[in-house]
Amino acid sequence: MSNIVTCTFFIVFLSSANLSISHQISLLLREVENLKKPYTPREVHVQVTHSMPPQKIEIFKSMDDWAEQNILVHLKPVERCWQPQEASSCSTSWAVWTRAWTAEENRHGDLLNKYLYLCGRVDMRQIEKTIQYLIGSGMDLRTENSPYLGFIYTSFQERATFISHENTARLAKELGDLKLAQICGTIASDEKRHETAYTKIVEKLFEIDPDGTVLAFADMMRKKISMPAHLMFNGQDDHLFEHFSAVAQRLGVYTARDYADILEFLVGRWKVSDLTGLSGEGRKAQEYVCGLPPRIRRLEERAQGRAKEVPAIPFSWIFDRQVKL
Ligand SMILES: [Fe+2]
Repeated sequence: MSNIVTCTFFIVFLSSANLSISHQISLLLREVENLKKPYTPREVHVQVTHSMPPQKIEIFKSMDDWAEQNILVHLKPVERCWQPQEASSCSTSWAVWTRAWTAEENRHGDLLNKYLYLCGRVDMRQIEKTIQYLIGSGMDLRTENSPYLGFIYTSFQERATFISHENTARLAKELGDLKLAQICGTIASDEKRHETAYTKIVEKLFEIDPDGTVLAFADMMRKKISMPAHLMFNGQDDHLFEHFSAVAQRLGVYTARDYADILEFLVGRWKVSDLTGLSGEGRKAQEYVCGLPPRIRRLEERAQGRAKEVPAIPFSWIFDRQVKL
């Protein structure tokens, strides 16, 4: 039972975080260059000042610096503002995809949350608290505002969620929870479709702009793919994500070997080693990504060799019961 519950935790935090990814991607697609540009009115009228006595004007003039420090911070950059047409009428393929994809990810989080609630074996207050902290903390995927980086990231991450849900389904089945196995199997098949879509987008980018795409691929892999929930917090454990990851690794839900396998899969899927006509920089990037999977595996084997006895720590979601890392 504890294995099932622990696996489910991992899946739930991945799924909740997918919502944030979709938000990020929709921003990527919409954003124009200058998100941080301060708000400036489009039209400046001739000011009528004679109705205000000069000393009053001085008061407002003297407050100008203060207002800059204290008031302008409450403005939201125009490009980040919600726009009415986003509710329904934007019908580019990107907008249609992003909305429907987000809706699918939302169903995953809802379903797993309901499973946890109905199973009655977890502390829902702690789970909800963690989700609140998770979404409130945001994330830093290091995709900047580049759709190239964003789509390489999602290709990797969707395959990672496909693998982790599939592994959870297998463990749940082995441990006799057929309902959870069915839930995770269904989610895994959605994730597989998402992976297909994102890898197709990057395949197309490789076709149109091989140099730019291989540079982005190398850039993203140098930064490493962090899971969207890496800033998660439950109000008490400052290393909560590392602790969940360690348990996921030990249970075989998602491991360092999976990371190398995904990378190798993508290199093959996009035929990166066959790219020709690249710039000098592009060739270096190509060499780097093609050589990376065996390097990660060697590092992983060395780390395994050094692995010592691991501690058990309390997890708030299961009433502070100790789980071995
Ligand atoms: Fe997904």
